Amino acid sequence: MDSRRHIIIVGSGVAGMTAALEAVGTYDVTLLTKADLAESNTRYAQGGVAVVTTDDDSVESHVADTLAAGAGLSDEHTVAILCAEGPAVIEEMIERGVKFDRHGDQLAHGLEAAHSHARILHAGGDATGAGIAYALIDRIHHSAVTVREQTTVVDLVLDDGSAVGVRLLGGEELRADAVILATGGAGQLFPHTTNPEIATADGLGMALRAGAVAADLEFYQFHPTSLDAPGNFLISEAVRGEGATLIDADGRRFMLDVHPDAELAPRDVVARGIAAQMVRQPGIPVRLDATALGAEFLAERFPNIDAACRAQGFDWGLTPVPVTPAAHYYMGGIRTDEWGRTSVPRLFAIGEVACNGLHGANRLASNSLLEGAVYGTRVIEGITDPPPVVELVDDWMAPVDLALDDDPDADDVNRSDLQQLMWDAAGLARNGPDLDRAVTTLRRSKAPAVIDAKSAEDANLLVVARAVVASALARRESRGGHYRTDFPQSDPAQAKHSSVRPTP
Ligand code: FAD
Ligand code: SIN
Repeated sequence: MDSRRHIIIVGSGVAGMTAALEAVGTYDVTLLTKADLAESNTRYAQGGVAVVTTDDDSVESHVADTLAAGAGLSDEHTVAILCAEGPAVIEEMIERGVKFDRHGDQLAHGLEAAHSHARILHAGGDATGAGIAYALIDRIHHSAVTVREQTTVVDLVLDDGSAVGVRLLGGEELRADAVILATGGAGQLFPHTTNPEIATADGLGMALRAGAVAADLEFYQFHPTSLDAPGNFLISEAVRGEGATLIDADGRRFMLDVHPDAELAPRDVVARGIAAQMVRQPGIPVRLDATALGAEFLAERFPNIDAACRAQGFDWGLTPVPVTPAAHYYMGGIRTDEWGRTSVPRLFAIGEVACNGLHGANRLASNSLLEGAVYGTRVIEGITDPPPVVELVDDWMAPVDLALDDDPDADDVNRSDLQQLMWDAAGLARNGPDLDRAVTTLRRSKAPAVIDAKSAEDANLLVVARAVVASALARRESRGGHYRTDFPQSDPAQAKHSSVRPTP
């Protein structure tokens, strides 16, 4: 594409802001975001960024860990790009002002589940996301990027099947030569989530309405350890990486019976282990015991978690705290290739809203901030004229049809009902009859007329919820973040990506 053309980027998390900073020397860039620049999943990230920065670690080892977590579905090519390009991209992040924690002049490294090396860079102890977000915001403010905050995008504008702009709440249309969706995740599909309120699946909803192919929508990651208190504040995996354990009502480390890596087993295994233990001890919470780490260390290494625990009346240096799984990260998303290209010409997707296959069925801890930075950088190189589109490869499962039309006589969707339905039918453990009922119930709700930001979000949550349950029903096996009690084993014949095909 010629220079000085106009790019619209929707979303101001690590992916959107990285792409904006990469593009601004070459293109006119408009960055749209529905709240403040800082409000995003990125802003709340705790544990850190997984990246190879030491001699005893290797890109091959990071690749192997990522593939193992992905449970047979990770795309080796996009994983290799992530791990190999990660170190240079993180150097650039440091250049842009991100201050990762150090011991002396050396970067400090944390350990998280399913990583064979301590390779997690962190900032402000457990405030990595805020450290990244505010450094990038500062750069954006000192750049020529045009920023529009409090600006909700409600739909893509198409011309002859190509994305030519976006429609804002209120009806204004903005035109561009390329649109990049960096709208993040979908935690608000569920009543219990670590995600902030902005995570309402908007980009995925609008991409589905535009006819874009989406992939692996049945794979949702539930974080094992959110504080079992209103708000589900995340208690980082890095706390278990430092040695905290999970204990049952009798104070026993029950994860030792579940997996040889116990508390540091892959995230889906730990989350299901906790859920099963919660069933065995109804009414008594599973607890995270960090007391051996000492109050002083906890307050210094994890200042935000320390404050959040205290705000809820827990002194975690002295007493184990109640924890519960909560919806955390969406592996599925708009299908893209390694340049962020989608199946719709001139439409690109990066970060959590995208699915380039790298996370497979289960994301490795701390790989998503890195994903936003690596693919937020690459996407700008992928903007070419004429615009290529991603092609679906042959070895995929049969596409799931997704009807986009609503029954005009149905009731408008109610968000809390939808969230509870999703938790019950498409949460940590799923089964055919419950998913079947959820498909029917969701068909009996209709998207509300878009009159404000909430109704726009509800419309997106509904279309994405339908796509999730349809995809979860179609995958008759268990793999990574998708666990079916009626098909508890993985089926090698289904070690394939899934896709949905929206039909008007
Ligand atoms: P986001 O950071 O979510 O940004 C999305 C942006 O899009 C927001 O600015 C939002 O306002 C905007 N937006 C959405 N819809 C619209 C719309 N309709 N119109 C306009 N703007 C819109 N990952 C790690 O790698 N390491 C960690 O330690 C880690 N910890 C985490 C802790 C928590 C509590 C959470 C919730 C997540 C954590 N993750 C972590 C996951 C990681 O933070 C996210 O996957 C990642 O930040 C997503 O970045 P993104 O740029 O794709 O999206
Ligand atoms: C955490 O700190 O446990 C979250 C890390 C992640 O989601 O990658």
